[in-house]
Amino acid sequence: MKMPITVVDHPLVQHKLTLMRDEKTPSNVFRQLLREVSLLLGYEVLRDLDMTEVTITTPLGTMQAPALSGKKLVLVPILRAGQGLLDGLLELVPSARVGHIGLYRDHDTLRPVQYYLKLPADIGARSVVLLDPMLATGNSAVAAISRLKEAGAQDIRFLCLLAAPEGVKAVAASHPDVRIFTAAVDDRLDENGYIVPGLGDAGDRMYGTK
Ligand code: URA
Repeated sequence: MKMPITVVDHPLVQHKLTLMRDEKTPSNVFRQLLREVSLLLGYEVLRDLDMTEVTITTPLGTMQAPALSGKKLVLVPILRAGQGLLDGLLELVPSARVGHIGLYRDHDTLRPVQYYLKLPADIGARSVVLLDPMLATGNSAVAAISRLKEAGAQDIRFLCLLAAPEGVKAVAASHPDVRIFTAAVDDRLDENGYIVPGLGDAGDRMYGTK
């Protein structure tokens, strides 16, 4: 199976990820690092945005200059940890719309349960970047992508910080058209569905709720 995945191995991303993995890193630093990494990952996930040319006048003359063309974006964090990737992406593309998908993971079955969904009506005309720091079993990502497609989305990328091979395979099997962007693919999942070595529960690390 061909894996539609881009691993962003830039030294800045890798260094910040190492700091985030460290269990001693406090929540406020963890959040700040996640925002910084989201800017760097955002650069890659948006690399192929459609461009056009516009005529502008610089102080020295007139030129044809590149600019983003019409196709608009929607950013969709999976609540709650996906929020940690949102601010950086919104800083890069302030005019993007934002949808939300609320999913929690049932601790016994590890299956996603949806409790909230709010998406722009014109999602079919937009490129979608789905945000969740941890691609673990892939169950939440697969369910969220299905909801996006049911709502009409046709162009979907999935942005995470860390992935497990199991999650990458699950998304590729159910949604081979969706490209995955991540900073690293770790070894495996443990029996509770956590990524190993990973960084623990991303939501708890962000908000200090452990
Ligand atoms: N979700 C997390 O926050 N961490 C994991 O390791 C797996 C899923």
